[in-house]
Amino acid sequence: MCGIIGYTGKKEAAKRLLEGLAALEYRGYDSAGVSFFSEEGKLITLKARGRLANVSAKVDACPEAKTSSCGIGHTRWATHGAPSDVNSHPHGTDALQLVHNGIIENYAELRERLTGEGYVFLSETDTEVAAVLLTSYYKKLGDKEAAFYAAMQELVGSYAFACVFADEPGTVYAARMGSPLIVGVGKGENYVASDITAILRYTKHYYQLGERDFAVVRPDGVTVKNSRGEEVHPPLETATWDVEAAEKGGYPHFMIKEINEEAKTLRDTLSPRIKNGLPDFSGEGFDVSVFRQIDKVHIVACGTAMFAGCAGKCKLEEYAKLPADTEIASEFRYAEPLVGEGDLVILVSQSGETADTLAALRLAKARGAKTLGVVNVIGSSIAREADHVLYTWAGPEISVCSTKAYTVQAALMTLLAVSAGLARGTLAEKRAREVVSLLEHDLPGEIDGILANDGGIRAAAHSLMDTKSMFFIGRGADRFLAMEGSLKLKEITYTHSEAYAAGELKHGTISLIEPGTPVVACCTVPAMFEKMLSNIREVKARGARVIALCPASAEDIRGEADFVLPVPTDDTAVSTIAGATSLQLLAYFLAAERGLDVDKPRNLAKSVTVE
Ligand code: M6R
Repeated sequence: MCGIIGYTGKKEAAKRLLEGLAALEYRGYDSAGVSFFSEEGKLITLKARGRLANVSAKVDACPEAKTSSCGIGHTRWATHGAPSDVNSHPHGTDALQLVHNGIIENYAELRERLTGEGYVFLSETDTEVAAVLLTSYYKKLGDKEAAFYAAMQELVGSYAFACVFADEPGTVYAARMGSPLIVGVGKGENYVASDITAILRYTKHYYQLGERDFAVVRPDGVTVKNSRGEEVHPPLETATWDVEAAEKGGYPHFMIKEINEEAKTLRDTLSPRIKNGLPDFSGEGFDVSVFRQIDKVHIVACGTAMFAGCAGKCKLEEYAKLPADTEIASEFRYAEPLVGEGDLVILVSQSGETADTLAALRLAKARGAKTLGVVNVIGSSIAREADHVLYTWAGPEISVCSTKAYTVQAALMTLLAVSAGLARGTLAEKRAREVVSLLEHDLPGEIDGILANDGGIRAAAHSLMDTKSMFFIGRGADRFLAMEGSLKLKEITYTHSEAYAAGELKHGTISLIEPGTPVVACCTVPAMFEKMLSNIREVKARGARVIALCPASAEDIRGEADFVLPVPTDDTAVSTIAGATSLQLLAYFLAAERGLDVDKPRNLAKSVTVE
């Protein structure tokens, strides 16, 4: 949610800022902007509403950009104030320019006070209030570090800041609380960035800033101080992602590239955790005997990560006979959840920075629960704060629409459930071995098979070209799969769709089925085929067009369907996970055929670091 970048060195700063912003654009794309110093030390700010191309054009037309060697940049997901030129970052004064990711909650009272001090505000943003507050302290105290600490004392909310002062070309100041920020370390040049993808082209080495850390970044060195003003030395980390992983690599969109990576990411995520055909988490210090010590599991997440959590819930209950609740993080954190020492709370998150999931983690810890993060981004806040973290090795997921992250989250949760079942003595070793083998050996190839034979999915997508509203239905694990399929479709095709428990449809919602209404019937669980067949017939009797997601063994269901989306297996250990790939492709092909901006759907951002 907003991406920020800073650069200082000897190279063309404006170019590096724009490249960094292009990589960060997935975090928000309502507007973009940069501030950089000219060779003469003049601070120039260029910003514009809309995509990065609008700012790039301004930078191209600015001769001073070529010789710039220090600056900051921002790509925005609007919170306070509509997307507009004036609300675009950087914001500032005659003294400084500031970019911000986060939300300043007490901005209204600060703005009133600063207006009383004679400051005039140009935008509606909370960020401008932070910039003016910093300016006011800088003018009063005459010291930048002191000004930062004074402002940070007063700001309530979350922030990652990068800031340049007009009287100090060549230095980028940075601070963070609640929003991610790294300092990239190069040779004779250094960076500030929301995440490593922004700077991978130039360096893989970085420091992760801690909560309330403050950093001064110059070409020849970086100083980091903690909230008490003491110098700290965070470990120098090295990213394992390479620049190709964060580029499209010949695919038209990141989304389809990332779906094509699912088989590989499954292998990368599962293989290191399988020894002699059984799960083994000991290598990463996770002791599965915890599953014998707890009474209940709570799986807390948002969006697609939540639906992957739902897949995990089904498996934990089936294999480990452990009650498992799934809870939306934004609800969990305000619901006075009944969570305590006997509970394990699993936080599922691709980014590891989702504000509600992070807050839920903190709440669970405060209540004495054991916590486990299932996280993709290494060193992210949830990864660092949870008692244990199990990484999904999906590599960077750039498309706002989550695909490969879901697949590996659901697969890893399944492996974990097998492990829990063995630890609790509720799953026979023979079945455990079968499930592990299906995950490790069969599933990756089955997903590649779906990709190689996508004709039926393309045809189904084409049939939806004029659809304005539709349904997804399913039972058991397929109810959650239906929700994920519906979310994918809504998110990138802007088609209204509703996901429903198939048996519940006749209690009201079936009145919306008209001749021609598309219904995607998710049928990956053989035990539910008969019941789903009845539900399919019910909607068909009202004129629905049925797109059935089902394996070859569901012959009767296929016989009723207008279109079939493939599920290459009917073993429930993996069928729901494979089914998700078909649904991802359905949404992708429709969005692409409609000519929509697949990777950057309107109003969204990849990493939701605000409530
Ligand atoms: O980074 P997270 O996994 O915590 O993100 C959670 C959701 O915001 C995310 O899965 C979102 O629903 C996706 N854009 C859906 O495709």
